[in-house]
Amino acid sequence: MIRTVTATRYVLPLREGGSLPAIVEADDLGIYVAKFRGAGQGVSALVAELVAGEIGRALGLPVPEIVLIEMDAALSRNEPDYEIRQLLKASVGLNLALDYLPGSTMFDPAARDAASAEEASLIVWFDAFTQNVDRTPRNANLLVWHRRLYLIDHGAALYFHHNWETMPSKIESAFAETAHHILLPWASRIEQASAHAHARLTREIFEGVLDLVPDEWLDDGRTALTPAQKRAAYADFFVRRLAASRIFEEEAMRAHAQLV
Ligand SMILES: Nc1ncnc2c1ncn2[C@@H]1O[C@H](COP(=O)(O)OP(=O)(O)OP(=O)(O)O)[C@@H](O)[C@H]1O
Ligand SMILES: [Mg+2]
Repeated sequence: MIRTVTATRYVLPLREGGSLPAIVEADDLGIYVAKFRGAGQGVSALVAELVAGEIGRALGLPVPEIVLIEMDAALSRNEPDYEIRQLLKASVGLNLALDYLPGSTMFDPAARDAASAEEASLIVWFDAFTQNVDRTPRNANLLVWHRRLYLIDHGAALYFHHNWETMPSKIESAFAETAHHILLPWASRIEQASAHAHARLTREIFEGVLDLVPDEWLDDGRTALTPAQKRAAYADFFVRRLAASRIFEEEAMRAHAQLV
């Protein structure tokens, strides 16, 4: 299940975010970080955010609650900033939002933030599985909130969906980008992470996650596939990548061994 809320107020842009995300208030009085379908990255970034985020949650990783957020045209009318007004106009319809974690800080080893071997290994495994390149020292996309880590920003995962013809060649990718993962120094238990992931992830889990994706995000007019066919193609990718996980696990273990 995923909740749908309606945006009632655009509060503040998060200028550090490349996709111009914003703090938004909704009709349930919740405060969210909204990611807009009209942003340059396109609606596929929202699919990646939702699908990767919910797979992370299925693995037991801490991801802020994800909701669908309806934006109507009225929201942009009082917006004085031209760029934001254009973004809101281009985002009428269903967008994605994450529960806002007030007072959270970005994970920073220089500030003595650290991770347990179990958690770091599972996060490294998860990012290699979903092919997320955005968890590096330059851009951790990992919040610390009440002393716990929270995973955010999965919009760059599942990069193959920008060009579906490349998908088959990505199933067995070793994902060399793991070498730049911010948690790699702590990720000494990739074997255990693999066992944990294989115990939790199934085709049914993937299909359940893909059912959460609104049809309108899958119907971007760039491929001939229907939304149902796209869901099946994503599920197929995940099932086959899970079966091939040795390849990226060995890469992660090798990259970790080179650090220590
Ligand atoms: N749930 C949240 N709670 C609190 N702050 C958040 C949350 N989600 C995002 N932020 C803040 O907003 C910033 C931008 O969010 P996010 O990284 O998701 O956007 P982006 O546009 O994809 O950014 P990037 O520049 O990394 O591509 C984060 O770096 C973080 O500081
Ligand atoms: Mg980010």
